[in-house]
Amino acid sequence: MQEQQFISKAYTSSVESGRFTWSSPSNIALVKYWGKKEHQIPENPSISFTLDHCKTTTTVYFSKKEDRNDFSFDVFLDGKAQEDFKPKIETFFKRVHAYLPFLNDYHFKIETSNSFPHSSGIASSASGMSALSLCLMSIERALMEQDLATSTSTNIKEKVLTDSYFIQKASFLARLGSGSACRSLEGDLVVWGAHKEIKGSSDLFGVKYPYDVHDNFKNYQDTILLVDKGQKQVSSTVGHNLMHDHPFAQERFKQAPKNVSRLMEVFKTGDLDAFIAIVESEALTLHAMMMTSMPYFILMKPNTLKIINKIWAYRATTNSKVCFTLDAGANVHMLYPEAESDKIIELINNELVAYCQNGHYICDRIGFGARQL
Ligand code: DP6
Repeated sequence: MQEQQFISKAYTSSVESGRFTWSSPSNIALVKYWGKKEHQIPENPSISFTLDHCKTTTTVYFSKKEDRNDFSFDVFLDGKAQEDFKPKIETFFKRVHAYLPFLNDYHFKIETSNSFPHSSGIASSASGMSALSLCLMSIERALMEQDLATSTSTNIKEKVLTDSYFIQKASFLARLGSGSACRSLEGDLVVWGAHKEIKGSSDLFGVKYPYDVHDNFKNYQDTILLVDKGQKQVSSTVGHNLMHDHPFAQERFKQAPKNVSRLMEVFKTGDLDAFIAIVESEALTLHAMMMTSMPYFILMKPNTLKIINKIWAYRATTNSKVCFTLDAGANVHMLYPEAESDKIIELINNELVAYCQNGHYICDRIGFGARQL
């Protein structure tokens, strides 16, 4: 499927005003996206668990405006005007305007809030860009439906009124906002990036993992230990760019699809030891890429390593299947089967909470994607 599929026919934009609200979860990659080509095309396929509790809720109000020369919007986080969000949204609007021609017909008021504290070090870009894209798709659907009432073409009907097109285009738009955001619309496992063994997989949008997954992964838990809530020293976007001319990049881009294939086998068999090995190796490889970039950087903190060692020590003395993964920061995601929940929370409270900033951690689990409210 090509980008052209997502270019909309001009609408009459006969709707004066309205609003839509979507809530979208965050996601945690098992095989990581790190390195991209132009236009937010990933260098390798990635696969993630969709989360359940960590989410962004966004309402977009839209009202017709006269001047069609510029984009016009205001952004509020928890009711407060958020000027520093504007450049990212402006860039996003520019990137997606060709696919959403109504963007300069309306003034938008974007109200957003996160279920997790803004300062938790949990990136809100995935959940935020996903929720915003879904709100924009709802507007497009409303405009198309209005036009459809007077049209005889079945083409429009096929394009916008099917839920699968709606979700696919929303994921496509979200990707243009932030790559990992295209994996936040559905659940419980999402693949982004073309992979020869995964039917329907694409570099342009995330797709729900299309095969059966072993019961061992039902209701898998993710407890996020908040090691460092500060602003990251190096943004993901800068980090991705450092994969250009990186001495190990080409090997990494070959390794990731192999790890996706290995995970496919794990999802079939339910082999949790193999799961642990792939997921932890992916997390450390991601950080190894950062440490071997030029300029090099380290996003882990001493407490990140303390926690990792404690997890390994715990596994060595029990038959636990808990493992860790990391995103582009110092926080540690502990992944484990639901049946281990009580024991793991006990481990956290007895041994790990001391390494969390202000003792904070967030209990989450895999979830099933975005919802319209
Ligand atoms: C380490 O999606 O935040 O979390 O596309 O530049 O917005 P941009 O990057 P972003 O990168 C996420 C990187 C990661 C790994 C992952 O989620 O796959």
